[in-house]
Amino acid sequence: MILAPTEDNLALASTALSKDQLVGLPTETVYGLAGNALSIEAVQKIYDLKGRPATNPLIIHISDFEQIHSLIGKLSDQQSYYLNQLKEFWPGPLTIILPKSINVPTIVTANSDTVAIRIPQHPVALEIIRKSGLPLAAPSANRSNYISPTSAQHVADEFGEKVEIIIDGGNCTVGLESTILSLVSDIPEILRPGAITLEVIRRIIPSVQYQEKVITENVMQNSPGQQIKHYSPKTPLKFKANYLPSSESKKIGLIAFQALSELEQNSFFSYKLLSADGDLNEVAQKLFATLRELDLQGLDLIVIDDCPVDKIGLAIMDRLKRAVSI
Ligand code: TXA
Ligand code: MG
Repeated sequence: MILAPTEDNLALASTALSKDQLVGLPTETVYGLAGNALSIEAVQKIYDLKGRPATNPLIIHISDFEQIHSLIGKLSDQQSYYLNQLKEFWPGPLTIILPKSINVPTIVTANSDTVAIRIPQHPVALEIIRKSGLPLAAPSANRSNYISPTSAQHVADEFGEKVEIIIDGGNCTVGLESTILSLVSDIPEILRPGAITLEVIRRIIPSVQYQEKVITENVMQNSPGQQIKHYSPKTPLKFKANYLPSSESKKIGLIAFQALSELEQNSFFSYKLLSADGDLNEVAQKLFATLRELDLQGLDLIVIDDCPVDKIGLAIMDRLKRAVSI
């Protein structure tokens, strides 16, 4: 059930969490399916409900930096130094991977000796974490491999009554999942680009690496979080640059990143403009909701713009390259 973020409902949510129940909660990136990260039972429910492979670890959400100490293991001088510098992005859309402490159940980390941690920026998420007094494991609140939810209604569409409490915090303002930065190896690495961009992280960690995964049909998943096929609508999706109007089927929807001539718009069955002036932060914010919307229209094909792979564009294109049909 979708509930307004009143004091009473937030108390209800935190009580449910303390009883190992799951709660759909808003963050600034996407909605999360949250459970007590220290409870094997609650975390198992998350995997079951999402249909998520046990090999794919979860992010732990905290509200205060001090909570991190019981979740992480001993850090090297370099890790401590970078963590201290990166703190300025918390609360915010940045997840940091560090060595785990023995307090974190191995089910959360998929048996890895590292743990992913973030302090989200949404006031409702922060209030629920504070009220419950628990670190919360929360993956995006979608079934495995579908598009991440950016509204409370999307979460209800995914899970129906199986999630009894979904707190409505409005539409997510960022719209793409957090940046994931691993500090585990000597050379820090971005595992998933997001709104805290590579350019911004480079200012703090000049040596940071980002290796785009080449996405081909037969690439196997070999490291957590690196699934090749992800975020896909059920309707086939293609970049506009690869679309030949004459040779394609009939009912085609277009998702444009900037305005088109009326003539061009009219050649599509449906047309969605994500930003009148090509603002890629606005594109990111509306992207998943628009993919979901068009996926419900019974189209034969969705065609979508692409964008340069810098700043937020790197994260947009990362998601889209995984979502297009190959
Ligand atoms: O913005 C977000 O990060 C959202 C909101 C709800 O906070 N959460 C989210 O969670 O996107 P999820 O589970 O959909 O994606 C988490 C990613 C997965 O790709 C997972 O493999 C990776 O984080 N991950 C988690 N723990 C990891 C670890 N120890 N090492 C490497 N990757 C890890
Ligand atoms: Mg996800």
